[in-house]
Amino acid sequence: MMDALTAMRLRRTVREFEPGKSISKETLETIADAGRVAATAINIQPWEFVIITNRDMLKKMADLAEYGKHLASASAAIAVLCKDSPFYLEDGCAATQNMLVAATALGIASAWIDGEKKEYGAAMKQLLGAPAEIKLVSIIALGYSNDETTPEKRPLEEVIHWEKFLM
Ligand SMILES: Cc1cc2nc3c(=O)[nH]c(=O)nc-3n(C[C@H](O)[C@H](O)[C@H](O)COP(=O)(O)O)c2cc1C
Repeated sequence: MMDALTAMRLRRTVREFEPGKSISKETLETIADAGRVAATAINIQPWEFVIITNRDMLKKMADLAEYGKHLASASAAIAVLCKDSPFYLEDGCAATQNMLVAATALGIASAWIDGEKKEYGAAMKQLLGAPAEIKLVSIIALGYSNDETTPEKRPLEEVIHWEKFLM
């Protein structure tokens, strides 16, 4: 298995998946488990993860999500929902990132798709059978891909500041 640093460095957003491939239940549970153990303020663990594998459902989700059309060709998706709590957004994002890195380590391509900050939030929650008051933090698309584009990242020496924020 890939080490954590390699998985973090290799992870990137994939927006085109090879359709027709499935991910095993065990692998999906391993990915979700990485979300379960994420850092969470005051250990509240406000999250609930809805794992979607049904093709029709993935297509309906893709129809709703303006920048999530790649859900249609994904093998699965994990919706990260959090009960309203002081740090639900940070907690939900920590769980999301953990799952993206775990997927990479397992050889699964992924994409972080916006949650309810987008206008489709309420409709998406309804589609997922989630109560209106829960927060939809993100939707993670999962699948297989040969896509090798790598977005440019700011260099380390530009983003780190030793001891004080000096430019
Ligand atoms: C909060 C957040 C929301 C995002 N929403 C979307 C989205 O709705 N659709 C999408 O295709 N990518 C989305 N992304 C992925 C970013 O576009 C991507 O992370 C960024 O371009 C850097 O590329 P990389 O993930 O390959 O490093 C989102 C990422 C974050 C952190």
